[in-house]
Amino acid sequence: MNETISTILRRRSVRAYRPDPVGEAELDLMLEAARHAPTAMNQQPWHFTVIRNRELLDDLEEHCITAFIESKNSALREVAKMAGFSVFYRAPMLVIISGDPDALAPQNDCTLAMENMMIAATSLGIGSCWTNAVMMYYATDKGKAAFEELGVTFPEGYQPYAAAAFGYPAEPYPETPPKKANCVTILD
Ligand SMILES: Cc1cc2nc3c(=O)[nH]c(=O)nc-3n(C[C@H](O)[C@H](O)[C@H](O)COP(=O)(O)O)c2cc1C
Repeated sequence: MNETISTILRRRSVRAYRPDPVGEAELDLMLEAARHAPTAMNQQPWHFTVIRNRELLDDLEEHCITAFIESKNSALREVAKMAGFSVFYRAPMLVIISGDPDALAPQNDCTLAMENMMIAATSLGIGSCWTNAVMMYYATDKGKAAFEELGVTFPEGYQPYAAAAFGYPAEPYPETPPKKANCVTILD
């Protein structure tokens, strides 16, 4: 198996992190990998926001949890009340990829960029976990206002399409969850 395939297979959603920051050189490589993702008509309609400020990460986490607890969705309320519930898992870095909603396929473009980032991170020994809370929270008026208040703003008109926590995985590294095998049709 070559190195690329083995890196793809090794990537897991990491939900426990060491507090040490992701190195500057590593972050540059991850962002470079992200910027090389394919985009519809090469529009690259994206912006990368990297949050490493511990206080800001904690504030954002608190806002998201409160929103979940106050949500009309009972599943969200239940999950947020569970002991040890965390949105960013105390990761030292959160990356939000925002995009231009008027682009051809901003959700696909931003998601592909985030996957490149996560694979690049894995190759550098850095863990990651997609975090849906950012998009869910931003979709509410309260969430938008909270992001603004915290100084987490995006280019004019852009909205977040992908968010993931990054950091060095705490031991033990996650086991591979069951992966569906029966999902391929090949027409020769
Ligand atoms: C669109 C999307 C949303 C996700 N949201 C969350 C999330 O909010 N919190 C979380 O811990 N993991 C989240 N995940 C990670 C999935 O739970 C994880 O990818 C899945 O369980 C498979 O595990 P693996 O990534 O280790 O292969 C999300 C993944 C995707 C693709």
